[in-house]
Amino acid sequence: MIEYADIVCGLAWGDEAKGKITSELAGSGEYDFVCRWAGGNNAGHTVFVDGKKYKTHLVPSGVFHGVTSVIGPGCVVHENSLMAEIRYLEKNGFDISKVKVSPRAHIVSRLHIDEDAEKLAKKLGTTSKGIAPCYADKMARKGVLAKDVIPYWMMWDENLSGKVLCEGAQGIWLDVDFGNYPYVTSSTTLPHGACSLGFPIQMIRNIWGAAKVYDTRSGVDPDFPESLLNDPELLKIADLGHEFGVTTGRRRKVNWLNLNKLIKAINFTGTTHIVLSKTDVIESAKLFKLHHNEHKVFDSLTEMTTYITDRITESCPTITKIKFSNSPTSI
Ligand code: IMP
Ligand code: MG
Repeated sequence: MIEYADIVCGLAWGDEAKGKITSELAGSGEYDFVCRWAGGNNAGHTVFVDGKKYKTHLVPSGVFHGVTSVIGPGCVVHENSLMAEIRYLEKNGFDISKVKVSPRAHIVSRLHIDEDAEKLAKKLGTTSKGIAPCYADKMARKGVLAKDVIPYWMMWDENLSGKVLCEGAQGIWLDVDFGNYPYVTSSTTLPHGACSLGFPIQMIRNIWGAAKVYDTRSGVDPDFPESLLNDPELLKIADLGHEFGVTTGRRRKVNWLNLNKLIKAINFTGTTHIVLSKTDVIESAKLFKLHHNEHKVFDSLTEMTTYITDRITESCPTITKIKFSNSPTSI
């Protein structure tokens, strides 16, 4: 039995700086395992270690701190991409013997990727990484398991112990059940999905919810119309915030923070600690706006963050800590 599990999850549409939070928590030396529970290399995590920037897609951020890093049974793995990431990590001096893959993770094939690119990429704005076709085969029970493909040294023995940190991918509004279906990904992005790694829900201690002080969406979604790309204020935020996908390089659509949705996300996930990143971006744009029941405009960053803090405090009983971050490298 493990001691406890802390979870980092996205409270929006992905790209909420989960990587930054996970890496900092993993670097504390507290955890024995850092695990991914869902998704594949559709994710993109940007992490700063000793002042240097690294990008990963599949390997959990524990690897940057010498912590055993598990790709769980709910994940989907493209072998060549994983191996390329392993080589990248090794070249940069990280201990790749710490990377472990569940034998029950599913393998993304060339056919999955082709089908995604040909049939789904345009219509749904997917990342073209073969995610939906791979999960479709998994659910149809005709998938290929990692145990038949991944090298033996990388195979996880499926034992967890001690203190576990679980790294979410994507965000709550991309969850296959809770998101704006079919404009979602194909896995459970909600924190209870982490239990598929092999521990009971009672072991969950802290839930770190990652958000930003404005909303972004990469990919197609009627809730984020193309017209957002014509709004000069939102474009300014997109440029100052470097809002381009880590995985696809696509320009992300930016919108004002929807605080009603964020409050819902906190309450669906049971978030105990929330980090709202990128205050520096709206500070340098001098744009302090959000949507909460109606459109609201503030005179300063402090006024806006005070408003957000008060609304979250009064509406979200699980919250114990609210943090605003102006740094790309730390929380
Ligand atoms: P898929 O997961 O590649 O099938 O993509 C489905 C939807 O989720 C698309 O709108 C993608 O842009 C979005 N998506 C998937 N992974 C991420 C992510 O890590 N960050 C942001 N959006 C993502
Ligand atoms: Mg990302």
